[in-house]
Amino acid sequence: MEEQNFPTVLTAALPAGGTGKTPFTKVYGQWKARQGYKVGMMDFDHQCSLSETYDIFKTEKTTLNIFKGGDVEFIPVEDNLWLAPSHPNLQYEPAHLRAEGTQNIYFLLEDWIYEHEEEIKRFDYLLIDTHPDTDIITKNALAISTAQIGVVMPIEKSVNAIPKAEAALEKLKEDTYDKRHHEARVTCELVLIGTNIEKVGKNYTKLSKQLLQLMKEDERFVGYIPHKELFAQSMSDEKVSIWTQLEDEKVLKDKSNVAFKKALEHAMIAMDNRIEELQWH
Ligand SMILES: Nc1ncnc2c1ncn2[C@@H]1O[C@H](COP(=O)(O)OP(=O)(O)O)[C@@H](O)[C@H]1O
Ligand SMILES: [Mg+2]
Repeated sequence: MEEQNFPTVLTAALPAGGTGKTPFTKVYGQWKARQGYKVGMMDFDHQCSLSETYDIFKTEKTTLNIFKGGDVEFIPVEDNLWLAPSHPNLQYEPAHLRAEGTQNIYFLLEDWIYEHEEEIKRFDYLLIDTHPDTDIITKNALAISTAQIGVVMPIEKSVNAIPKAEAALEKLKEDTYDKRHHEARVTCELVLIGTNIEKVGKNYTKLSKQLLQLMKEDERFVGYIPHKELFAQSMSDEKVSIWTQLEDEKVLKDKSNVAFKKALEHAMIAMDNRIEELQWH
C-alpha cells in the first residue's frame, strides 16, 4: 500500500515465540506517538498479549472481525496511541478461511483497509503484532507492510527463526505475484532488530556475543535493545510507559538507566532511518 495518506504499516513477525515482538510493537508505537504521530496498533495474536498489557479483555469489535465481518474498534490506550484488540478465536480463522475456499486469501486485510479508508487514514502508522507463525493472518499483515520486523533474542530458536521468516516472506511474494501485470503485489522487506542483549559485569553473555557477531554480518539488522529489567517490567505489570520512567530523575540517578535510555533511543532512530530508506526505494 503506497497510496498517499495511507499510514506506514509495519508488522512485528518472527516464527518463534517469546522473542520480544510484543514489547517491540509497544515501545516503537510509544516512540512514534511521543513524536506526535498518530499510531494504530493492531493485535493479530490470538494470545492477545498486547491487548492484555493494556488490561483489554474485549471479545467484541476485535481484529477477528476484519476476517469475519463486523466492526473493529481502535481503543485509545495512550496519547496518540490506539489499539485494535485481538480475539482468542482468531486462532481458528485460517482453517475457516481455507474451508470456505476464500478467494484472495492474503489480501483480506488490504480489502478491509480500503473499505475503512477514512478511519485508517487518520493514522500515520499502523503497527501489527502477530502470533509466532507464518500462517494466513500473519501473511495478511505482511501483504500490506513496508517491513516485517523480526525481533531476535540471543536464544537459539529465535536466531533459527530468521531463515524461516525469510522463506515464508519469499513464498508469499511468489504466491501473490501479479503475472498479468508483471508486478509484485507484496513489497514487504525483512528488517531485523535484536533485543535482550545481556552483559554480566563488563562482558556480554556467550549467546549475546554470538548474536552481536551475527548482527555485524547481516545488514538486515538495524541494531538492538539491551537487556533491562525496567523494560521487561514496563511491558507487563507496570502501567507507566518505559519512556515516562526514563524521564524520571530518580530513575536516571542510576547510570545504567541513562545508558539504557541512550541505547533504546539509538535503536529506535536506527529503525526510523531504515523504514525511511525502504519507503524511498
Ligand atoms: N531488552 C529487553 N530487556 C528485558 N526484557 C526483555 C527485553 N526484550 C524483551 N524482553 C522480555 O522478553 C519477554 C518475551 O517477550 P514476548 O512478549 O513473550 O515476545 P513475543 O511477543 O515475541 O512472543 C517479555 O517478558 C519481554 O518483556
Ligand atoms: Mg507476542
